[in-house]
Amino acid sequence: MKIISVVGARPNFIKIAPFVRAIEEHNADLADEGAKIKHVLVHTGQHYDDKMSRDFFTSLNIPEADINLGIGSGSHAEQVGKTMIEFEKIVKSHQPDWVVVVGDVNATCACSITAKKEHIKVAHIEAGLRSFDMEMPEEINRLVTDRLSDLLLTPCSISSDNLRNEGVAEDRIKFVGNIMIDTLEANREKAGALDMKTVLEQNLYDTEEGGKLEHMIASSSGYGLMTMHRPSNVDRESILRLIIEFLKEEVVHRTPLIWPMHPRTEKQLTKFGLWDEVKKMKGLLLLQPLGYHELLKLNMSAKLVLTDSGGIQEECCVLGTPCLTMRWNTERPIT
Ligand code: UD1
Repeated sequence: MKIISVVGARPNFIKIAPFVRAIEEHNADLADEGAKIKHVLVHTGQHYDDKMSRDFFTSLNIPEADINLGIGSGSHAEQVGKTMIEFEKIVKSHQPDWVVVVGDVNATCACSITAKKEHIKVAHIEAGLRSFDMEMPEEINRLVTDRLSDLLLTPCSISSDNLRNEGVAEDRIKFVGNIMIDTLEANREKAGALDMKTVLEQNLYDTEEGGKLEHMIASSSGYGLMTMHRPSNVDRESILRLIIEFLKEEVVHRTPLIWPMHPRTEKQLTKFGLWDEVKKMKGLLLLQPLGYHELLKLNMSAKLVLTDSGGIQEECCVLGTPCLTMRWNTERPIT
């Protein structure tokens, strides 16, 4: 059997790691070469910075992608369109039995459409999640991918029920559990052994942030951890400004906050003239985007987490860290 699996953005890398490992273990037990799964890993290149991409491959022991489509940044239509054009060539030349997609990013949607049009079967890992919010690009990606997929691998019973409610035939739905938590469990010990101070020192946003480090480490009230990148929070000035005010008025003077900065958020803060205010805020420590183990370590030790990420909500749930989800809805009500 030949499988092409697809990753594009940071959360995909975390989800594909256990899948790659499972194929390796399956093949290792087989003497007959013909019975082995032939696996081709395709990276669409949506995330391309070392800190958003390569570092995750290295730290999670994911083999280098066999093919990188080099799509890069762009509007949704540009990313999806370019991915489809490039992925079609790969599907045509490799003729896989299955294309496996994960999560809900543009790569997930683009590659499931392309595969189906080439009459290749599609399996979706993390199927059935629904926020019921059609303003989220990820909700559109989830709906399209699930409508097309032959095999829907769900993380929880709520997502299986969502699919049943949409009329999906029972034999296409398989409840398999949450693959991102497989990654968490496999890496919990390694993350836990990291030294907090070293993690902070090595990932400071810039040298100016170094001055805030002592205050953060000395804080007896513990610290909060924040991540934010969703278009619904960062793309409109009126909303982003309110969130920054909220941090300043309500949060940082009570609990120091650590904020690894997503490139999208940094761009928007700069565009709306809010970056200086954020940089000057006392009790707020800005970091670069963090590696997998580093973020897990900060989550494990945090007093609370503020986030609009989907995966971090789930990780908090398993780690027992109180999580304030900064959204009006969530596709992960289980958290
Ligand atoms: C994407 C996913 C989102 C996921 C998130 C995790 C979609 C629709 N969205 O959103 O579901 O939660 O990734 O991070 O697929 N950029 C860089 N370096 C990079 C990658 C991006 O600087 O390596 C910049 C881009 O130029 C762009 C911005 O960050 O301006 C946003 O990147 P993009 O991949 O379009 O979407 P995300 O907001 O990261």
